[in-house]
Order: sequence, then structure tokens, then C-alpha cells
Amino acid sequence: MNWWNGLKIKAREREPLRKHTTFKIGGRAEYFFEPGDADELKSLLSLLKRRKIPILALGAGSNILASDKDIDAAIIRLSSPYFKGVKFKGSFVEAGSGLMLNQLLLASKRRGLSGAEFLAGIPGTVGGALIMNAGLKEESIADIVESVTVIDYNGGVKTLPKTGIKFEYRQSSLSKYIIVSAVIKLAKKDKRDIADRIAQYLTRRRLSQDLSYPSAGCVFKNPRGYSAGQLIDLCGLKGRRSGGACVSRRHANFILNKGNAKAKDVFALMDLIGKEVRSKFKIKLEPEIKIWR
Ligand code: EPU
Repeated sequence: MNWWNGLKIKAREREPLRKHTTFKIGGRAEYFFEPGDADELKSLLSLLKRRKIPILALGAGSNILASDKDIDAAIIRLSSPYFKGVKFKGSFVEAGSGLMLNQLLLASKRRGLSGAEFLAGIPGTVGGALIMNAGLKEESIADIVESVTVIDYNGGVKTLPKTGIKFEYRQSSLSKYIIVSAVIKLAKKDKRDIADRIAQYLTRRRLSQDLSYPSAGCVFKNPRGYSAGQLIDLCGLKGRRSGGACVSRRHANFILNKGNAKAKDVFALMDLIGKEVRSKFKIKLEPEIKIWR
């Protein structure tokens, strides 16, 4: 009998994280839970708190580098249908945290609702995109969100208006919560225009980024006024390898898993990049990806 059996929750033990990250890298997580609804999530949180087990929330795993070592924590993934809902009310859409961004775009396009097209091609969930304020240089999800319903690590649910959330470049004050859902404001538009805009964003992404091997997208944040990719490129690091990991030849801020890469291979490349950029440009790069150790 496991300590969580009373909850009747979907659970796994020693779950390999490489199965749940787009990098396809990571050791095992001691516990892996997929609550069926908000009540199960609340009960789980209070049980984990009582047992003092650290919690990590997982979305699509597209911005995470999990260490090769096993992680002594409980991963919570909001992947049940309850957390993937999408409800329209006029030009507002309420989207579940676990909903993939492309699903949100598809549903909005069908309704002739525009405004989120810039998220096309970002391989994340609504919750993940909000936590890290995903987007492009010019626009981010903060621009279209109206409110976010969250649950804190004590199980308290609240709805935060946009004005109560601090959004910055690739981060937000939402990281201290588990996101349940968000209301996003869209606007009526011709369906063909929406489809065209989505296609344009996808093309732009395909042309500039490297989607040929598993990765976690851009590894470093852009330092103010600079592009991390350009700085790494100017250091001549494209194509540099460590074990199964390789700096992309197409976009130098992408590290690719060219086959059985370990987290230690990626860390070695990140260290090398950090040192080279610091010595050549006197600029300190900060990781954009989340590192789970
Ligand atoms: N560049 C190079 N060499 C490279 C890569 C880029 O010279 O190897 C130059 C480009 O030619 C361009 C400039 O650097 O002049 C900027 O490159 P890009 O347009 O690809 O944008 P970015 O700043 O590298 C940012 C985000 C991306 C987002 C794009 C789209 C960050 C760290 N990256 O990339 O986000 O998709 O803008 O606007 O903010 C991600 O979060 O994972 C991500 C990929």
C-alpha cells in the first residue's frame, strides 16, 4: 500500500524524465502524479506538504533540462482532460493550464478569434507559457491574458487579474503557483486571415530555429540589447559537441540532443558557451531553460 493510495490519483514511481522533456534528457523522478481534477490536485498538495516532499510542476517539458541524477521530488503534470478544457464566452477564451498552445490556436481559429497567433509553433502548454511569459520579441502572452486561476502550494485557489501578475522578459510572478486555467482576450477576425497569420509565424520559426533534433529551444536569455544566439555564433561555437549534445549550426542558442545526450553533456556546452561569451564580450549569459537538479 503506497502513502498516496487513499487519493485514487494516477501515479507512477521512478518515472524517467527523458520521456517527458522535449530534450529527451533526464534521470528518474521519485514520484510522478497526474491529478484528475482540482480536488485531487488539492488533496495531493496537502499530502505532499505533510510529507515534506518537494514539488515540481511539469507542462509540456519543452523548457526543461533535467539532471541525469534521480530527482527526489514529486512531479505534478496537469494532463487530464479536466485541465485541458477550452471554453469560449464572446471574444474571451478560458483555457486549461494543460492545454497545448497549438490546440488553443486551433480552437480559436475555428471560432474566428484572433490574437494568439504569435504563439504558433511554441511547443508548450498554456500554463507553461504563462509561467515564463512565452512569446516573441515584440509580443508575449502577457499582452493577451485577462486573468489566471492558480492554486498555491497550500491548496488555496484564487483568480488573479492581469494587474495582479508581474510579467517580465521570460518570467512571471506566477512561478510560485500551480496554474489551473487562464482567461485570454481575443478579437473577431476573418478565419482565413487567422490561418495566414499562423502560417507566417510558423514559417518564421522554421526558418530561424533548429527543429531537426530534440532540444529545449533557446538555452540562454537574450542579454539586454543583444541576441544570445548571435553572441555564441560570433564566438565560433556552432557545431561544438560534448558527448551526444551539439551546438546547433543553424541557431547557436539551440543545443541539440543528437542521440543519447546526457544532461552533463549539455551542462558542459553551457559552461563552455558561458566562458567564451564572458571572455569575448564581458557579458554574462543567464539560462533561459529551467534546470532541475
Ligand atoms: N543570430 C545569429 N546567429 C545565430 C542565431 C541568431 O547571428 O546562430 C542572429 C539573427 O540573425 C538575428 C538575431 O541573432 O539577427 C536574433 O535571432 P532570432 O531572430 O532567431 O531571435 P532570438 O533572439 O535568437 C528570440 C527568442 C526565441 C523566439 C524568437 C522569435 C530568446 C532567448 N529567444 O530568439 O525564443 O522564438 O526570438 O522572435 O528570447 C525560446 O524561448 O526557446 C525561443 C527560441
